[in-house]
Amino acid sequence: MRRACYSFYLCLSLLLFFFVSDVASVPLSTSSRWIVDKEGRRVKLACVNWPSHLEPMLAEGLGKQTLDTITKRVGSMGFNCVRLTWATFMVTNESLSSLTVQQSLEALNLSESIGAIQVNNPSLLNLTLIQAFEAVVSSLRDNNVMVILDNHISKPGWCCSNSDGNGFFGDKYFDPDVWIQGLTKMATMFNGTSNVVGMSLRNELRGPKQNVDDWYRYMQKGAEAVHAGNPDVLVILSGMSFDNDLSFLTRSPVNVSFSNKLVFELHWYSFSDGEAWRSGNANDVCGRITGNVERKAGFLLDGGSPLLLSEFGVDNRGGNANDDRYFGCVAGVLADWDLDWALWTLQGSYYLRQGVFGLDEVYGVLGWDWCKDRNTSALSRIQALQPPFQGPGVSNLPPYTIIFHPSTGLCVLKKSLMEPTLELGPCNNTEAWTYTSQHALMLKDTLLCLKAEGSGKPAKLGIVCTDSSSKWELISDSKMHISSCNNGAAGSLCLDVGTDGRSIVTNPCECLSRRQDCDPESQWFRLVSSTRSIASRIPLRQLPHQFRRWKIM
Ligand SMILES: *[C@@H]1O[C@H](CO)[C@@H](O)[C@H](O)[C@H]1NC(C)=O
Ligand SMILES: *[C@@H]1O[C@H](CO)[C@@H](O)[C@H](O)[C@H]1NC(C)=O
Ligand SMILES: *[C@@H]1O[C@H](CO)[C@@H](O)[C@H](O)[C@H]1NC(C)=O
Ligand SMILES: *[C@@H]1O[C@H](CO)[C@@H](O)[C@H](O)[C@H]1NC(C)=O
Ligand SMILES: *[C@@H]1O[C@H](CO)[C@@H](O)[C@H](O)[C@H]1NC(C)=O
Ligand SMILES: *[C@@H]1O[C@H](CO)[C@@H](O)[C@H](O)[C@H]1NC(C)=O
Ligand SMILES: *[C@@H]1O[C@H](CO)[C@@H](O)[C@H](O)[C@H]1NC(C)=O
Repeated sequence: MRRACYSFYLCLSLLLFFFVSDVASVPLSTSSRWIVDKEGRRVKLACVNWPSHLEPMLAEGLGKQTLDTITKRVGSMGFNCVRLTWATFMVTNESLSSLTVQQSLEALNLSESIGAIQVNNPSLLNLTLIQAFEAVVSSLRDNNVMVILDNHISKPGWCCSNSDGNGFFGDKYFDPDVWIQGLTKMATMFNGTSNVVGMSLRNELRGPKQNVDDWYRYMQKGAEAVHAGNPDVLVILSGMSFDNDLSFLTRSPVNVSFSNKLVFELHWYSFSDGEAWRSGNANDVCGRITGNVERKAGFLLDGGSPLLLSEFGVDNRGGNANDDRYFGCVAGVLADWDLDWALWTLQGSYYLRQGVFGLDEVYGVLGWDWCKDRNTSALSRIQALQPPFQGPGVSNLPPYTIIFHPSTGLCVLKKSLMEPTLELGPCNNTEAWTYTSQHALMLKDTLLCLKAEGSGKPAKLGIVCTDSSSKWELISDSKMHISSCNNGAAGSLCLDVGTDGRSIVTNPCECLSRRQDCDPESQWFRLVSSTRSIASRIPLRQLPHQFRRWKIM
């Protein structure tokens, strides 16, 4: 029986190979709000951040695993791209750019890291920092991973604060001319490197000097410099206030000499709003902050510009209420807006961060040793967001609706062909739904609709679709509760996940009052519009049924 499982996976991977292996044909460009390849098909950037901007100026982790192991791992986790960070001075300051990896680490007393790199990546030690950076990019290329070069800071080190001298044009370490020099060097160095698809001009502009006039003046200059050095790359522009705010763009467009290459980037963490998620009612907070993000950045999509959520992420240990509620909300937005994104972060640990050797990174998808996943379930809910839901070339299907459950990254689908009950399952194996103007949730192109049967009971598919038990409203400030209009005496019932963690039931709606000490996440669903190809959907939805049968046998 084991054999059948293996051959099933083999078939599945072959199948997937044919459906998803068509690597983007570069260069990328923009077409209204989408990033597209040479043929005009959408390329959804599903990136992970990989820092190389701290004091050693070396991509993290190279003492833990071989470079090839790490870059292969990035691809096998489903990320198609890395946002690789760099510090300006690595390329503009001769006394830094001439350092070898070994010298750079020696200067920081990182002898343990030198020993570890000697074991895992001996060929890197004698390279200059820039050569080592190039080696990382080319290893990513060998494994089909695209790269965004992110100018993260000027003076190498942990980023970012309002007073670190790296925040805005004119700060102690942030001379606009040196910055332009750095951008030009980096752009020309990777001109013709096919997997370098974008350059972000500067991470998290911030601090007391920030102002709109200088933003336009210097960002337009920086954009021209990058484009002149490498006309193929997407030019990615950060907002102000730690990249939380692009609202000033309503005043004037960014004027550059080239077209279809500009992308804007946004950062959004739980702590971008302090302790709001923990201290408020989760529905109110999700509604309010989503509205803010729409006003500060989301409006760009409607205006026809791509928006890259280039940093978001959570403490992967779970159990942090501020992060957990934020995640359910932001993942719903990511799916609904179908944004391009870059998760913070890949690294399980650092050579040196803020004076601490080998610091553990709890936001990392990899564990401290860069070997195991830090948290498989946290990673799988990110993986649900990797494929595009819609956009040019995704398919020629008319849009349908999926019922997405952000806190698990799963979608609502039929339990089996024969049963009327529903469960959570992979979104790439989803049902196509239609949310009708009468507020019924119909299985598309069938006469079956979703029905509430009572508190604690499974929600079922039925064929009487006009009564109150088959009407559903999106309620609460978050609009993420799917509530049955069949209220009865028990108060309103909401779609929920059963105690088995899988079956779809209805339960009394949670956290609708202003209460703060409640967690609505299991009842948070998002109706997301999708056009993912039926060609890949049909075989994929049939295979798992067979698979279940094999497993039972
Ligand atoms: C270049 O880097 C060295 C070493 O960090 C530093 O001492 C020097 O001041 C830097 N030079 C410039 C022009 O920033
Ligand atoms: C490295 O160690 C030496 C000797 O212990 C010390 O003098 C120096 O300050 C250390 N350098 C750094 C960057 O920590
Ligand atoms: C690196 O350079 C040092 C000194 O120049 C040399 O002894 C060593 O063999 C070199 N290591 C490698 C792997 O090339
Ligand atoms: C970039 O590469 C293209 C060809 O690949 C070349 O025509 C162009 O001159 C290069 N630009 C710079 C600034 O090196
Ligand atoms: C961009 O160009 C438009 C039209 O020429 C002009 O009105 C606007 O002021 C310019 N904006 C900037 C920031 O230069
Ligand atoms: C993994 O993440 C999930 C979701 O946040 C959390 O519930 C769980 O406790 C985490 N597990 C571990 C081992 O960190
Ligand atoms: C579908 O989802 C499952 C579970 O999330 C995953 O293992 C599989 O690789 C996915 N397939 C595709 C085509 O993304």
